[in-house]
Amino acid sequence: MTSQIIPVDPFDFIIFGGTGDLAERKLLPALYQRQMAGQFSEPTRIIGASRSSLSDDEYREFARKAITEHVKPDEIVNGELDSFLARLSYVPVDAKSGEGFERLKEAIGDSTAVRAFYLAVAPGLFGDIAGHLAKHGLNEGDPRIVVEKPIGRDLASARALNDAIGCVFNEQQIFRIDHYLGKETVQNLMALRFANTLYEPLWNSAHIDHVQITVAETVGLEDRVSYYDKAGALRDMVQNHMLQLLCLMAMEPPSSMDADAVRDEKLKILRSLKRINGNEAPKLTVRGQYKAGASAGGAVKGYAEELGNDSDTETFVAIKAEIANWRWAGVPFYLRTGKRLAERVSEICIQFKPVPHSIFDDSAGVVTANQLVIRLQPDEGVKQWIMIKDPGPGGMRLRHVPLDMSFADAFEVRNPDAYERLIMDVVRGNQTLFMRRDEVEAAWQWIDPIQASWEENRHTVQGYTAGTWGPSASIALIERDGRTWHESM
Ligand code: BG6
Repeated sequence: MTSQIIPVDPFDFIIFGGTGDLAERKLLPALYQRQMAGQFSEPTRIIGASRSSLSDDEYREFARKAITEHVKPDEIVNGELDSFLARLSYVPVDAKSGEGFERLKEAIGDSTAVRAFYLAVAPGLFGDIAGHLAKHGLNEGDPRIVVEKPIGRDLASARALNDAIGCVFNEQQIFRIDHYLGKETVQNLMALRFANTLYEPLWNSAHIDHVQITVAETVGLEDRVSYYDKAGALRDMVQNHMLQLLCLMAMEPPSSMDADAVRDEKLKILRSLKRINGNEAPKLTVRGQYKAGASAGGAVKGYAEELGNDSDTETFVAIKAEIANWRWAGVPFYLRTGKRLAERVSEICIQFKPVPHSIFDDSAGVVTANQLVIRLQPDEGVKQWIMIKDPGPGGMRLRHVPLDMSFADAFEVRNPDAYERLIMDVVRGNQTLFMRRDEVEAAWQWIDPIQASWEENRHTVQGYTAGTWGPSASIALIERDGRTWHESM
Protein backbone atom coordinates (compact mmCIF):
# COMPACT_ATOMS: atom_id res chain seq x y z
CA MET A 1 0.00 0.00 0.00
CA THR A 2 1.45 3.42 -0.92
CA SER A 3 0.33 6.84 0.20
CA GLN A 4 0.06 9.69 -2.24
CA ILE A 5 2.84 12.26 -1.95
CA ILE A 6 2.01 15.81 -2.96
CA PRO A 7 5.10 17.88 -3.86
CA VAL A 8 5.40 21.26 -2.17
CA ASP A 9 6.44 24.50 -3.86
CA PRO A 10 10.18 25.27 -3.87
CA PHE A 11 11.48 26.54 -0.54
CA ASP A 12 14.65 27.79 1.15
CA PHE A 13 15.43 25.99 4.41
CA ILE A 14 18.05 27.67 6.57
CA ILE A 15 19.41 25.68 9.51
CA PHE A 16 21.08 27.67 12.29
CA GLY A 17 23.15 25.15 14.22
CA GLY A 18 23.64 23.49 10.82
CA THR A 19 26.62 21.46 12.05
CA GLY A 20 25.04 20.53 15.40
CA ASP A 21 23.63 17.34 16.77
CA LEU A 22 19.99 17.94 15.79
CA ALA A 23 20.91 18.82 12.20
CA GLU A 24 23.10 15.75 11.98
CA ARG A 25 20.78 13.19 13.58
CA LYS A 26 17.35 14.47 12.57
CA LEU A 27 17.04 17.44 10.21
CA LEU A 28 19.36 16.48 7.33
CA PRO A 29 18.20 12.82 7.33
CA ALA A 30 14.55 13.95 7.44
CA LEU A 31 15.03 16.39 4.55
CA TYR A 32 16.79 13.68 2.54
CA GLN A 33 13.86 11.30 3.13
CA ARG A 34 11.37 13.90 1.88
CA GLN A 35 13.41 14.39 -1.28
CA MET A 36 13.46 10.60 -1.72
CA ALA A 37 9.69 10.57 -1.35
CA GLY A 38 9.44 13.02 -4.26
CA GLN A 39 8.18 15.94 -2.22
CA PHE A 40 10.63 18.63 -3.39
CA SER A 41 10.17 20.89 -6.39
CA GLU A 42 12.96 22.85 -8.03
CA PRO A 43 14.80 24.97 -6.96
CA THR A 44 14.55 23.95 -3.28
CA ARG A 45 17.66 24.98 -1.33
CA ILE A 46 19.05 24.08 2.07
CA ILE A 47 21.54 26.43 3.71
CA GLY A 48 23.55 25.40 6.76
CA ALA A 49 24.64 28.20 9.09
CA SER A 50 26.79 28.01 12.18
CA ARG A 51 30.00 29.34 13.69
CA SER A 52 32.31 26.73 12.10
CA SER A 53 34.11 27.98 9.05
CA LEU A 54 33.24 25.46 6.36
CA SER A 55 33.05 25.63 2.58
CA ASP A 56 29.94 24.45 0.72
CA ASP A 57 31.74 21.24 -0.17
CA GLU A 58 32.79 20.60 3.40
CA TYR A 59 29.20 21.07 4.53
CA ARG A 60 28.01 18.65 1.85
CA GLU A 61 30.52 16.14 3.18
CA PHE A 62 29.18 16.68 6.71
CA ALA A 63 25.64 16.06 5.42
CA ARG A 64 26.68 12.97 3.45
CA LYS A 65 28.18 11.49 6.62
CA ALA A 66 25.11 12.41 8.69
CA ILE A 67 22.76 10.77 6.21
CA THR A 68 24.91 7.67 5.80
CA GLU A 69 25.00 7.24 9.57
CA HIS A 70 21.38 8.03 10.36
CA VAL A 71 19.42 6.65 7.41
CA LYS A 72 19.07 2.90 6.87
CA PRO A 73 21.53 1.70 4.19
CA ASP A 74 18.74 0.32 1.96
CA GLU A 75 17.10 3.77 1.93
CA ILE A 76 20.18 5.48 0.54
CA VAL A 77 20.24 5.75 -3.23
CA ASN A 78 23.51 7.25 -4.46
CA GLY A 79 22.17 9.36 -7.33
CA GLU A 80 19.41 10.72 -5.10
CA LEU A 81 21.88 11.51 -2.32
CA ASP A 82 24.12 13.42 -4.76
CA SER A 83 21.20 15.46 -6.05
CA PHE A 84 20.16 16.18 -2.43
CA LEU A 85 23.68 17.31 -1.53
CA ALA A 86 23.75 19.60 -4.56
CA ARG A 87 20.96 21.65 -2.90
CA LEU A 88 23.16 22.37 0.10
CA SER A 89 25.32 25.39 0.74
CA TYR A 90 26.88 26.85 3.84
CA VAL A 91 27.33 30.29 5.40
CA PRO A 92 29.40 30.85 8.56
CA VAL A 93 27.49 33.10 10.96
CA ASP A 94 27.97 34.28 14.51
CA ALA A 95 24.58 34.48 16.17
CA LYS A 96 25.88 36.75 18.92
CA SER A 97 27.80 39.39 16.96
CA GLY A 98 25.71 39.13 13.82
CA GLU A 99 28.74 38.55 11.65
CA GLY A 100 27.84 36.57 8.54
CA PHE A 101 24.16 37.62 8.33
CA GLU A 102 24.93 39.92 5.39
CA ARG A 103 26.45 36.94 3.57
CA LEU A 104 23.40 34.88 4.47
CA LYS A 105 21.19 37.56 2.94
CA GLU A 106 23.28 37.46 -0.24
CA ALA A 107 23.06 33.64 -0.32
CA ILE A 108 19.27 33.82 -0.11
CA GLY A 109 19.25 36.53 -2.76
CA ASP A 110 15.99 37.83 -4.14
CA SER A 111 14.30 34.44 -4.06
CA THR A 112 10.58 34.68 -3.39
CA ALA A 113 10.31 31.05 -2.33
CA VAL A 114 8.96 30.16 1.12
CA ARG A 115 11.77 30.73 3.59
CA ALA A 116 12.08 28.70 6.80
CA PHE A 117 14.66 29.46 9.48
CA TYR A 118 15.20 26.49 11.76
CA LEU A 119 16.85 27.47 15.04
CA ALA A 120 18.63 24.26 16.05
CA VAL A 121 20.62 26.21 18.63
CA ALA A 122 20.51 26.88 22.38
CA PRO A 123 17.40 28.90 23.34
CA GLY A 124 19.69 31.65 24.66
CA LEU A 125 20.39 32.50 21.00
CA PHE A 126 16.76 32.66 19.77
CA GLY A 127 16.42 36.39 20.47
CA ASP A 128 19.83 37.25 18.97
CA ILE A 129 19.12 35.37 15.75
CA ALA A 130 15.61 36.82 15.41
CA GLY A 131 17.10 40.31 15.93
CA HIS A 132 19.82 39.85 13.28
CA LEU A 133 17.30 38.43 10.79
CA ALA A 134 15.14 41.50 11.28
CA LYS A 135 18.10 43.86 10.97
CA HIS A 136 18.85 42.38 7.56
CA GLY A 137 15.24 42.41 6.43
CA LEU A 138 15.11 38.61 6.34
CA ASN A 139 11.86 38.51 8.30
CA GLU A 140 10.04 40.20 5.40
CA GLY A 141 7.76 38.37 2.98
CA ASP A 142 6.33 35.08 4.17
CA PRO A 143 9.01 33.60 6.44
CA ARG A 144 8.66 30.93 9.11
CA ILE A 145 10.85 30.51 12.17
CA VAL A 146 11.10 27.14 13.89
CA VAL A 147 12.17 26.71 17.50
CA GLU A 148 12.64 23.67 19.68
CA LYS A 149 12.24 23.03 23.36
CA PRO A 150 13.33 23.92 25.97
CA ILE A 151 11.18 26.99 25.56
CA GLY A 152 12.13 28.32 28.95
CA ARG A 153 12.62 26.58 32.29
CA ASP A 154 9.60 28.25 33.88
CA LEU A 155 6.80 30.64 32.94
CA ALA A 156 8.88 33.80 33.24
CA SER A 157 11.74 32.57 31.06
CA ALA A 158 9.29 31.10 28.52
CA ARG A 159 7.58 34.49 28.26
CA ALA A 160 10.92 36.22 27.77
CA LEU A 161 11.84 33.84 24.93
CA ASN A 162 8.43 34.17 23.32
CA ASP A 163 8.74 37.96 23.52
CA ALA A 164 12.22 37.93 21.99
CA ILE A 165 10.98 35.99 18.94
CA GLY A 166 7.55 37.60 18.95
CA CYS A 167 8.85 41.12 18.51
CA VAL A 168 10.26 40.13 15.10
CA PHE A 169 7.91 37.38 13.86
CA ASN A 170 4.17 37.17 14.28
CA GLU A 171 2.51 34.12 15.84
CA GLN A 172 1.48 32.71 12.41
CA GLN A 173 5.18 32.65 11.46
CA ILE A 174 6.42 30.91 14.62
CA PHE A 175 6.53 27.11 14.67
CA ARG A 176 7.28 25.68 18.14
CA ILE A 177 8.17 22.06 17.70
CA ASP A 178 7.16 19.28 20.03
CA HIS A 179 8.41 16.29 18.09
CA TYR A 180 5.87 14.00 19.80
CA LEU A 181 3.15 15.71 17.75
CA GLY A 182 4.89 14.53 14.58
CA LYS A 183 4.79 10.88 15.60
CA GLU A 184 2.38 8.86 13.46
CA THR A 185 0.53 7.25 16.34
CA VAL A 186 0.07 10.53 18.15
CA GLN A 187 -1.75 11.86 15.12
CA ASN A 188 -3.58 8.57 14.97
CA LEU A 189 -4.99 9.34 18.38
CA MET A 190 -6.95 12.13 16.71
CA ALA A 191 -8.07 9.78 13.92
CA LEU A 192 -9.15 7.16 16.44
CA ARG A 193 -11.15 9.66 18.47
CA PHE A 194 -12.64 11.82 15.74
CA ALA A 195 -12.98 9.57 12.71
CA ASN A 196 -14.94 6.89 14.58
CA THR A 197 -18.28 7.15 16.31
CA LEU A 198 -17.46 4.23 18.56
CA TYR A 199 -15.39 5.89 21.24
CA GLU A 200 -16.59 9.45 21.58
CA PRO A 201 -19.82 8.67 23.48
CA LEU A 202 -17.77 6.66 25.98
CA TRP A 203 -14.95 9.20 26.26
CA ASN A 204 -15.86 10.70 29.64
CA SER A 205 -16.08 10.15 33.37
CA ALA A 206 -19.29 8.11 33.07
CA HIS A 207 -17.42 5.30 31.31
CA ILE A 208 -13.72 5.81 31.89
CA ASP A 209 -12.25 4.90 35.26
CA HIS A 210 -8.81 6.39 34.72
CA VAL A 211 -6.12 7.04 32.11
CA GLN A 212 -2.42 6.21 32.22
CA ILE A 213 0.20 7.87 30.07
CA THR A 214 3.63 6.27 30.14
CA VAL A 215 6.74 7.42 28.30
CA ALA A 216 9.46 5.04 29.43
CA GLU A 217 13.00 5.16 28.12
CA THR A 218 15.92 2.78 28.57
CA VAL A 219 18.59 5.38 27.77
CA GLY A 220 20.43 7.30 30.48
CA LEU A 221 22.04 10.71 30.45
CA GLU A 222 23.41 10.37 26.88
CA ASP A 223 26.14 13.06 27.05
CA ARG A 224 23.57 15.76 27.85
CA VAL A 225 24.98 16.54 31.26
CA SER A 226 24.88 20.31 31.18
CA TYR A 227 21.30 20.51 29.90
CA TYR A 228 19.69 17.59 31.66
CA ASP A 229 20.98 18.13 35.16
CA LYS A 230 19.50 21.63 35.17
CA ALA A 231 16.21 20.46 33.67
CA GLY A 232 15.12 17.07 35.04
CA ALA A 233 12.27 14.88 33.84
CA LEU A 234 9.46 17.28 34.80
CA ARG A 235 10.77 20.05 32.56
CA ASP A 236 12.32 17.78 29.93
CA MET A 237 9.35 15.46 29.29
CA VAL A 238 6.23 16.39 31.24
CA GLN A 239 5.92 20.11 30.43
CA ASN A 240 5.89 19.33 26.71
CA HIS A 241 5.50 15.77 25.40
CA MET A 242 3.40 14.29 28.22
CA LEU A 243 1.07 17.27 28.49
CA GLN A 244 0.60 17.33 24.72
CA LEU A 245 -0.40 13.66 24.79
CA LEU A 246 -2.77 14.37 27.65
CA CYS A 247 -4.32 17.25 25.69
CA LEU A 248 -4.94 15.17 22.57
CA MET A 249 -6.42 12.40 24.68
CA ALA A 250 -8.68 14.66 26.72
CA MET A 251 -9.62 17.66 24.54
CA GLU A 252 -13.13 18.31 23.26
CA PRO A 253 -13.62 17.55 19.57
CA PRO A 254 -12.34 20.59 17.66
CA SER A 255 -14.63 21.82 14.89
CA SER A 256 -11.95 21.09 12.27
CA MET A 257 -8.26 20.29 11.92
CA ASP A 258 -7.60 24.00 11.57
CA ALA A 259 -4.56 24.94 13.65
CA ASP A 260 -6.34 27.29 16.01
CA ALA A 261 -9.40 25.06 16.34
CA VAL A 262 -7.17 22.24 17.62
CA ARG A 263 -4.95 24.48 19.73
CA ASP A 264 -7.91 26.24 21.35
CA GLU A 265 -9.15 22.86 22.60
CA LYS A 266 -5.73 21.81 23.86
CA LEU A 267 -5.37 25.11 25.66
CA LYS A 268 -8.68 24.56 27.48
CA ILE A 269 -7.36 21.27 28.85
CA LEU A 270 -4.10 22.84 30.02
CA ARG A 271 -6.05 25.57 31.76
CA SER A 272 -8.39 23.02 33.36
CA LEU A 273 -5.58 20.99 34.92
CA LYS A 274 -6.03 21.11 38.66
CA ARG A 275 -3.12 22.95 40.25
CA ILE A 276 -0.88 20.80 42.42
CA ASN A 277 0.24 23.11 45.18
CA GLY A 278 2.54 22.98 48.20
CA ASN A 279 1.39 20.23 50.50
CA GLU A 280 -0.37 18.23 47.74
CA ALA A 281 2.80 17.63 45.73
CA PRO A 282 4.25 14.94 48.04
CA LYS A 283 0.95 13.00 47.76
CA LEU A 284 0.38 13.46 44.04
CA THR A 285 3.90 13.36 42.61
CA VAL A 286 6.93 11.07 42.80
CA ARG A 287 10.51 12.01 41.92
CA GLY A 288 13.10 9.35 41.23
CA GLN A 289 16.70 9.04 40.14
CA TYR A 290 18.26 5.89 38.72
CA LYS A 291 20.99 4.03 40.55
CA ALA A 292 23.37 1.49 39.02
CA GLY A 293 21.60 -1.51 37.56
CA ALA A 294 21.15 -3.35 34.29
CA SER A 295 19.82 -2.14 30.97
CA ALA A 296 19.68 -3.81 27.56
CA GLY A 297 21.45 -6.85 28.99
CA GLY A 298 24.45 -4.96 30.40
CA ALA A 299 25.46 -3.29 33.65
CA VAL A 300 24.92 0.48 33.69
CA LYS A 301 26.06 3.23 36.03
CA GLY A 302 23.80 5.27 38.22
CA TYR A 303 22.90 8.85 37.26
CA ALA A 304 25.21 10.45 39.85
CA GLU A 305 28.11 8.28 38.68
CA GLU A 306 27.47 9.24 35.05
CA LEU A 307 27.31 12.85 36.10
CA GLY A 308 30.42 12.66 38.27
CA ASN A 309 28.78 14.17 41.35
CA ASP A 310 25.70 13.92 43.55
CA SER A 311 22.60 15.61 42.26
CA ASP A 312 18.97 16.00 43.21
CA THR A 313 17.74 16.10 39.59
CA GLU A 314 14.88 13.70 38.87
CA THR A 315 15.25 11.20 36.03
CA PHE A 316 11.79 9.81 36.78
CA VAL A 317 8.52 11.47 37.59
CA ALA A 318 5.04 10.15 38.24
CA ILE A 319 2.05 12.42 38.73
CA LYS A 320 -1.59 11.89 39.52
CA ALA A 321 -3.23 14.68 37.55
CA GLU A 322 -6.85 15.74 37.32
CA ILE A 323 -8.74 17.77 34.76
CA ALA A 324 -11.34 19.94 36.41
CA ASN A 325 -14.10 20.05 33.82
CA TRP A 326 -17.43 18.30 33.23
CA ARG A 327 -16.05 15.60 30.99
CA TRP A 328 -13.21 14.49 33.25
CA ALA A 329 -14.05 15.43 36.83
CA GLY A 330 -13.04 12.55 39.09
CA VAL A 331 -11.01 10.67 36.44
CA PRO A 332 -7.35 10.48 37.44
CA PHE A 333 -4.72 10.81 34.73
CA TYR A 334 -1.63 8.98 35.94
CA LEU A 335 1.48 10.18 34.14
CA ARG A 336 4.91 8.62 34.40
CA THR A 337 8.13 9.03 32.52
CA GLY A 338 11.69 8.10 33.24
CA LYS A 339 15.12 7.19 31.98
CA ARG A 340 16.76 3.78 32.45
CA LEU A 341 13.42 2.07 32.96
CA ALA A 342 12.69 -1.59 32.27
CA GLU A 343 11.57 -1.11 28.67
CA ARG A 344 11.35 1.57 25.98
CA VAL A 345 7.65 2.06 25.62
CA SER A 346 5.26 4.98 25.20
CA GLU A 347 1.59 4.29 25.53
CA ILE A 348 -1.74 5.64 26.59
CA CYS A 349 -3.90 3.19 28.46
CA ILE A 350 -7.58 3.98 28.87
CA GLN A 351 -9.23 1.93 31.57
CA PHE A 352 -12.99 1.71 31.20
CA LYS A 353 -15.31 1.14 34.15
CA PRO A 354 -16.49 -2.39 35.00
CA VAL A 355 -19.93 -3.59 33.92
CA PRO A 356 -22.51 -2.34 36.44
CA HIS A 357 -23.74 -5.85 37.23
CA SER A 358 -22.46 -9.29 36.27
CA ILE A 359 -25.01 -11.84 35.12
CA PHE A 360 -22.40 -14.64 35.22
CA ASP A 361 -21.75 -17.23 37.95
CA ASP A 362 -18.46 -17.23 39.80
CA SER A 363 -17.43 -20.26 37.73
CA ALA A 364 -17.34 -18.02 34.62
CA GLY A 365 -14.38 -16.16 36.11
CA VAL A 366 -13.84 -12.48 36.65
CA VAL A 367 -15.48 -9.97 34.32
CA THR A 368 -12.50 -7.72 33.63
CA ALA A 369 -13.19 -4.13 32.62
CA ASN A 370 -12.40 -3.09 29.05
CA GLN A 371 -9.13 -1.42 28.29
CA LEU A 372 -7.92 0.49 25.24
CA VAL A 373 -4.16 0.66 24.85
CA ILE A 374 -2.68 3.01 22.28
CA ARG A 375 0.94 2.17 21.75
CA LEU A 376 2.96 5.11 20.46
CA GLN A 377 6.34 3.41 20.26
CA PRO A 378 7.84 0.99 19.53
CA ASP A 379 5.51 -1.40 17.63
CA GLU A 380 2.87 1.27 17.05
CA GLY A 381 -0.65 -0.03 17.30
CA VAL A 382 -3.92 -0.18 19.13
CA LYS A 383 -5.29 -2.94 21.35
CA GLN A 384 -8.86 -2.99 22.52
CA TRP A 385 -9.28 -5.50 25.32
CA ILE A 386 -12.73 -7.09 25.51
CA MET A 387 -14.37 -10.05 27.25
CA ILE A 388 -15.41 -13.10 25.22
CA LYS A 389 -16.58 -16.60 25.98
CA ASP A 390 -13.70 -19.03 26.13
CA PRO A 391 -14.28 -21.14 23.00
CA GLY A 392 -15.28 -24.79 23.32
CA PRO A 393 -17.45 -26.89 25.61
CA GLY A 394 -17.35 -26.75 29.38
CA GLY A 395 -19.93 -24.13 30.19
CA MET A 396 -19.63 -20.39 30.29
CA ARG A 397 -16.10 -19.30 31.01
CA LEU A 398 -15.05 -15.77 30.25
CA ARG A 399 -11.77 -14.59 28.81
CA HIS A 400 -10.14 -11.15 28.44
CA VAL A 401 -8.68 -10.90 24.93
CA PRO A 402 -7.25 -8.09 22.79
CA LEU A 403 -8.56 -6.96 19.42
CA ASP A 404 -5.11 -6.23 18.18
CA MET A 405 -3.98 -3.92 15.43
CA SER A 406 -0.28 -3.60 14.91
CA PHE A 407 0.33 -0.89 12.30
CA ALA A 408 3.52 -2.54 11.06
CA ASP A 409 1.59 -5.73 10.27
CA ALA A 410 -1.40 -3.95 8.80
CA PHE A 411 0.38 -1.42 6.59
CA GLU A 412 3.48 -1.96 4.56
CA VAL A 413 4.72 1.58 4.68
CA ARG A 414 7.85 3.08 6.12
CA ASN A 415 7.05 4.83 9.38
CA PRO A 416 8.42 8.34 8.78
CA ASP A 417 10.36 10.10 11.51
CA ALA A 418 8.40 12.83 13.30
CA TYR A 419 10.69 15.52 11.87
CA GLU A 420 9.80 14.60 8.29
CA ARG A 421 6.16 15.41 8.83
CA LEU A 422 6.85 18.50 10.92
CA ILE A 423 9.39 20.03 8.53
CA MET A 424 7.00 19.69 5.60
CA ASP A 425 4.20 21.23 7.69
CA VAL A 426 6.49 24.21 8.35
CA VAL A 427 7.00 24.63 4.62
CA ARG A 428 3.26 24.30 3.95
CA GLY A 429 2.55 26.79 6.74
CA ASN A 430 0.33 24.35 8.64
CA GLN A 431 0.56 25.02 12.39
CA THR A 432 -1.85 22.33 13.62
CA LEU A 433 0.95 20.17 15.04
CA PHE A 434 2.90 23.06 16.58
CA MET A 435 2.46 24.67 19.97
CA ARG A 436 1.01 28.12 20.22
CA ARG A 437 2.51 30.62 22.64
CA ASP A 438 -0.41 30.46 25.09
CA GLU A 439 -0.21 26.64 25.20
CA VAL A 440 3.45 26.65 26.15
CA GLU A 441 2.82 29.24 28.82
CA ALA A 442 -0.26 27.46 30.21
CA ALA A 443 1.80 24.27 30.50
CA TRP A 444 4.43 26.13 32.54
CA GLN A 445 1.69 27.60 34.69
CA TRP A 446 0.82 24.07 35.78
CA ILE A 447 4.43 22.85 36.06
CA ASP A 448 5.85 25.80 38.03
CA PRO A 449 3.92 25.17 41.31
CA ILE A 450 4.98 21.50 41.26
CA GLN A 451 8.61 22.46 40.78
CA ALA A 452 8.33 25.17 43.44
CA SER A 453 6.76 22.80 45.93
CA TRP A 454 9.53 20.26 45.37
CA GLU A 455 12.10 22.92 46.08
CA GLU A 456 10.33 24.44 49.09
CA ASN A 457 9.51 21.13 50.74
CA ARG A 458 12.84 19.51 49.90
CA HIS A 459 10.98 16.73 48.14
CA THR A 460 14.17 14.86 47.31
CA VAL A 461 14.57 12.17 44.67
CA GLN A 462 14.05 8.51 45.56
CA GLY A 463 16.49 6.03 44.12
CA TYR A 464 15.45 3.26 41.73
CA THR A 465 17.57 0.54 40.23
CA ALA A 466 18.26 1.07 36.53
CA GLY A 467 16.23 -1.42 34.49
CA THR A 468 13.17 -1.34 36.78
CA TRP A 469 9.90 0.62 36.59
CA GLY A 470 10.99 3.45 38.88
CA PRO A 471 10.82 3.98 42.64
CA SER A 472 8.38 1.98 44.76
CA ALA A 473 6.58 5.23 45.61
CA SER A 474 5.39 5.31 41.99
CA ILE A 475 3.68 1.96 42.46
CA ALA A 476 2.22 3.20 45.74
CA LEU A 477 0.90 6.36 44.00
CA ILE A 478 -1.51 4.32 41.89
CA GLU A 479 -2.05 1.29 44.13
CA ARG A 480 -3.25 3.55 46.91
CA ASP A 481 -6.23 4.18 44.64
CA GLY A 482 -6.79 0.44 44.09
CA ARG A 483 -5.31 0.55 40.56
CA THR A 484 -2.10 -0.74 38.96
CA TRP A 485 0.24 0.48 36.25
CA HIS A 486 -0.27 -1.20 32.92
CA GLU A 487 3.01 -2.98 32.32
CA SER A 488 2.91 -4.21 28.74
CA MET A 489 0.63 -4.37 25.77
C1 BG6 B 1 13.40 14.76 24.10
C2 BG6 B 1 13.98 14.76 25.49
O1 BG6 B 1 12.57 15.86 23.92
O2 BG6 B 1 12.67 13.57 23.89
C3 BG6 B 1 14.85 13.55 25.71
O3 BG6 B 1 14.75 15.94 25.68
C4 BG6 B 1 14.10 12.28 25.37
O4 BG6 B 1 15.33 13.50 27.05
C5 BG6 B 1 13.44 12.39 24.01
O5 BG6 B 1 15.03 11.21 25.39
C6 BG6 B 1 12.53 11.21 23.75
O6 BG6 B 1 12.11 11.24 22.41
P1 BG6 B 1 11.72 9.90 21.64
O7 BG6 B 1 11.26 10.37 20.31
O8 BG6 B 1 12.98 9.07 21.59
O9 BG6 B 1 10.66 9.23 22.44
